[in-house]
Amino acid sequence: MALLFLDTANIEEVRQAVAWGVLDGVTTNPTLMMRAGTADLKATTLEIAEIVRGPVSAEVISADAEGMIAEAREILAWSEFVNVKIPCTVEGLKAMREISRWPNGRINATLIFSPTQAYLVAKAGATYASLFVGRMDDAGLDGMEVVRQTREIFDQYGFPCKVLAASIRHTAHVVESLRAGADIITVPFAVLQQMVRSPFTDAGLERFLADWRKVAGS
Ligand code: E4P
Repeated sequence: MALLFLDTANIEEVRQAVAWGVLDGVTTNPTLMMRAGTADLKATTLEIAEIVRGPVSAEVISADAEGMIAEAREILAWSEFVNVKIPCTVEGLKAMREISRWPNGRINATLIFSPTQAYLVAKAGATYASLFVGRMDDAGLDGMEVVRQTREIFDQYGFPCKVLAASIRHTAHVVESLRAGADIITVPFAVLQQMVRSPFTDAGLERFLADWRKVAGS
């Protein structure tokens, strides 16, 4: 089954999405923390983890492997639900290699824009490879093709690394990610809302209720 994550650091959005009963986890990043108006990464991550009780990603801010490893050690100790987000750079790969050897080394390799990056993070032991579909499309690349190629490569060689479709901008991205075999899709709250809504459902429901009122005489 494809898992559904929410891409947010907004506690209220997490609460609402969890109440729908379809949410499996949450991804955050420094920009989402900034939008949520919080600089307390630990408190916010733990509050989200407590609500969703599933995987929650918290991102490092160091640029060098040593700094990333030190941050990861701290972040991963916060909760069994938390995984550490490491960018796909040379320093990031070095950090992933080391962190993946730890018993709690849950890694979300982030900022992936090509199948070669996905291949490298899988080799370095990442748990998830986050492919930035929307940003690839913005840059004139075919984001969904990168999801398809990554899926094919991971399957062909049996990499356990999960394909995580990120930077999702609209429901067509969700549908195409599902068709391409993404293991996980992380969506902004606005896209989650779009996923459930249809004007035809609203109109159909209104009609059913109007007809029922006619026969029931209320
Ligand atoms: C993934 O984990 C990222 O937080 C996210 O999807 C980035 O997407 P954006 O392009 O909307 O910033």
